[in-house]
Parts: sequence; C-alpha cells; structure tokens
Amino acid sequence: MKKFTTLNDIHNLQEILAQALELKQHPFSFSHLGKQKTLVMLFFNASLRTRLSTEKAAKNLGMEVSVLNIANAWNLEFENGTIMNLNTSEHIKEAAEVISQYADIIAVRAFPSLKNKEQDTAEYIINSFLKYASVPIVNMESATAHPLQALADAITIKEANFTKKPNIVLSWAPHPKALPHSVANSFVNLMHKMDVNFTITHPKGYELDPAITKNSPIEYDQQKAFENADIVYTKNWSSFNDYGKVLLDDEMWMITKKNLKEAKFMHCLPIRRNVVAEDAVLDSPNSLVIQQANNRTFATQIVLQQILMYDKMSNSKLNNHYINQYE
Ligand code: CP
Repeated sequence: MKKFTTLNDIHNLQEILAQALELKQHPFSFSHLGKQKTLVMLFFNASLRTRLSTEKAAKNLGMEVSVLNIANAWNLEFENGTIMNLNTSEHIKEAAEVISQYADIIAVRAFPSLKNKEQDTAEYIINSFLKYASVPIVNMESATAHPLQALADAITIKEANFTKKPNIVLSWAPHPKALPHSVANSFVNLMHKMDVNFTITHPKGYELDPAITKNSPIEYDQQKAFENADIVYTKNWSSFNDYGKVLLDDEMWMITKKNLKEAKFMHCLPIRRNVVAEDAVLDSPNSLVIQQANNRTFATQIVLQQILMYDKMSNSKLNNHYINQYE
C-alpha cells in the first residue's frame, strides 16, 4: 500500500481483515518492521481515539512517533500565488516537504469547514499533503472520509460472525452541533464493499452526497428501517444539500433500547448520551462501541504495516537496481 487516504486504497478487504484479526491475537509479531522509522501525526482538530490508537499501532510495529497539534505551529497557507502578508506564515509546499524530512509516514487529521462545500469536497488539506509531501500519507479523518474508523468497523462486524448475510442500517441521530459527513461516508463506502443488506435512514433533508451513497436504499421511516436489523450504526451528520446546517433537532430519532430491539449498536464515539443514544443502549451488552474503539489499533496497525512493507519492497528493488547498474 503506497498511502491510505480512502478505503479504496485497500485492494483486498477480506485479506486485510484476516490479517488485522491475526494482528489482534499477536500485536507484536511485526515489531521489527518499523525500527528506525518515524510516524509524524498532525492534528488540525481534536482527537482521543485516533491519537492514542494510532500511536499504539505505530509503537506495536516498533516505530517512533512525533505528534504535532497544528494550532501550536505556524498558520499554513494552502493557496498558490498568494501574497502572504496577512495571517498565514508558512506555505504547505515548504511545510509538507520539511515534515517529510523528519517522517517516514505522515498521518493527518483535518476536518471540513462545513462552510465551503466546494473546498471541503476537494479535500484541499489532505490532497495538499499528498501533493507536496515526499512520504506516504495516512488519513486520520479528513473533510469527507474517516477510512481508519471504517476499517475498525469492518473488523468489528467480521468479529460478530453472522451466519447469514446481516441486515445493517446506518441511522442519523440528533446532535446539537453541525457535524461532518466523513464517518457516515466511509461507512457507506465500506457497506458497498461487504456482503450485507444495507439501508440508510435519516429525516428528509439529510441526504448524504449522492456520489457516495450511489444506489443505497434510503428509508425515511426509522422504525421501518430498524425492522429485522442485525446492526444499527448510528451517526449524526449535518445537511449536505443545505451545506453544514442543522435542520432539526428531533429527539424522536435518538436511539432507544425499545427501537433498537435485538440489534447490535455501533457508533464511532465520542457520543452524547441521551441525545444520540440513551444510556440503556450504551450500557447494554448489544453495544459494540468499546470493541470498535479497541479495533482502531489493529485497523491502523495493518495499514501502517502494509505501507512499511511496500516501502521496504520498493527500497530493496531500488537497491537491487542500483547494485545491478554499478556491478
Ligand atoms: N472515532 C474517532 O475518530 O474518535 P476521535 O475523534 O476521538 O479520534
């Protein structure tokens, strides 16, 4: 794997899932692979799980880790040709190349503005790192995608060991703040790659980007969507059409033990209790949220491992080429 910015960077999902589950059993089996390699983690936004699980994954592989909260660095300029006489002090062209001098892999977290749809959809931050850095880039949640979360979710679903094709529902839930679409987008992308029956449910007006949902069925009646559900994956997101707006705060959409019935409950966390889902859901054995959070480590570890292996193979090919040329 050359980089990991979307789930589409995985060529064989089933193979990766099998390897991640193996890593979960033997987390130190590749602890030599990352020796003398450094992961630099850049955070434009807050994080609990991503920061700690990514650091743990890298250390399980023997890597060194440096963490930089971008708020503590110079204000970055992303536009080309700008006269930088206002608030930005360093251009991404220099910054990305300089960070590449200290890193073997750069991981970036950069949420959307939720104000400028065109700019967010273009993924200008993560794509600028892809363009100007000279080492592989890992997406720790960007404007439109959270593929490490989706990979951890895939591991969790695999561990549920359904004997028949499971019915999986992605349900919108209320939240007082405008939230990104990234987790929901990557989960939809994941569902398109797994052998499942998949439905999305949300109030009218909360349709996700049709370029991502494609022909996924949408059911506007949450109760109907939950009939025969094996898993309800819950997430709030702001409106995509009325970009970044909170259209309603309908507590009827909160996940309750009564409407969940026997279904398993999944959420990426953090979660607002008794707003998104009631206590009885989160405290029930049907909640998989802690297992999901645990699987973040092994999802990230298999990604870092694949990148390190690709890098090692490319370097040995380059070295062989060099030796052959000058022998
Ligand atoms: N689920 C997730 O990405 O959590 P953090 O925002 O805490 O990293």
